[in-house]
Amino acid sequence: MAEPLLAIRGISKSFGSVAANVDISFEVAAGEILGLIGPNGAGKSSLFNIIAGAIKPDRGEILFEGRRISGIGAVACARRGIGRTFQVVRSFDSMTVLENVMVGAFLHARRSAAAMREAAGVIAFCGLAGRRDVAAHRLSPPDKRRLEIARALATRPRLLLLDEMLTGLTPTEAREGMQLVRDLRAQGITIIMVEHVMEVLLPLIDRAIVLDLGRKLLEGRPAEIVRHPDVIRAYLGERYVA
Ligand SMILES: Nc1ncnc2c1ncn2[C@@H]1O[C@H](COP(=O)(O)OP(=O)(O)O)[C@@H](O)[C@H]1O
Ligand SMILES: [Mg+2]
Repeated sequence: MAEPLLAIRGISKSFGSVAANVDISFEVAAGEILGLIGPNGAGKSSLFNIIAGAIKPDRGEILFEGRRISGIGAVACARRGIGRTFQVVRSFDSMTVLENVMVGAFLHARRSAAAMREAAGVIAFCGLAGRRDVAAHRLSPPDKRRLEIARALATRPRLLLLDEMLTGLTPTEAREGMQLVRDLRAQGITIIMVEHVMEVLLPLIDRAIVLDLGRKLLEGRPAEIVRHPDVIRAYLGERYVA
C-alpha cells in the first residue's frame, strides 16, 4: 500500500482487567471502504474511540496522513479530518436537525451564517432537507442515523468512522444507508465501518479487518473473509463450516 491515509501500529488498550485491544496493526488507503468485523466485545468501538482521539491507547501509535495523532485528543483529531458517528446516537434531542449539524460545522466555521450554510448543504446531501427544522428526538430511527452522519460530515472529515449505523434498520432502510455510504466515498471520503449484518457489509467494503477478543483475527477482501472457518462459525453457524 503506497502511503496509507491511516496507519495503526501496535495499538493496545485495557480497561481494568479487560484487554479491549491487543497489539492491533493495519493500514487504510485513501478512498477505501474498510469493514471492521467482530462479535460484541471484540474491541471495535474501543478502537474507533482511539482512532478518533476520545481515548488514549496504552501502547502503540496512530498515524494519519503520516503524522502521529495518538494522544492529541478528540477535537484535534476532528480538526485533522477524522469524523465519527456513535453506536448509541448522540444527537442533542431538543435541538433541530439544522442546529445539531451546525454544532459540527462550528469546528471550522467562525460565524453562524457560514455554519448554517455548511450545515444546510450537508443536510441536503444526507437526504434530510425536509426534516431541517424538526427536533432531533422526533426523527425516525433511520433519520437519526442520517443526522449522526450529517453532523460528522459538517466537520469536513477525510476519514469517517461509522459505528453500527445500519443496526436496527429495516432491509429497505439499510439499503438506503448503504447508498449514502457509497455517495460519501464518491465525495472522496475514506470510510471505516462497523456492521454486524454481513449481507449489508460485504457488498459495500473493499477490505475487512476481523477482530476477536481484542485481537486482529484476520484481514482480507470480502471473498477471502467469508471463506475463513472462524468467520463462518461466528456469523453463519457451525453447520456452514466446510
Ligand atoms: N470506556 C470503557 N470503559 C470500560 N470498558 C470498556 C470501555 N470501552 C470498551 N470497554 C470494554 O472493552 C471491551 C470491548 O468493547 P467494545 O470496544 O465496545 O466492543 P465492540 O464495539 O466490539 O462490541 C468490552 O469488554 C467492553 O466492556
Ligand atoms: Mg461497539
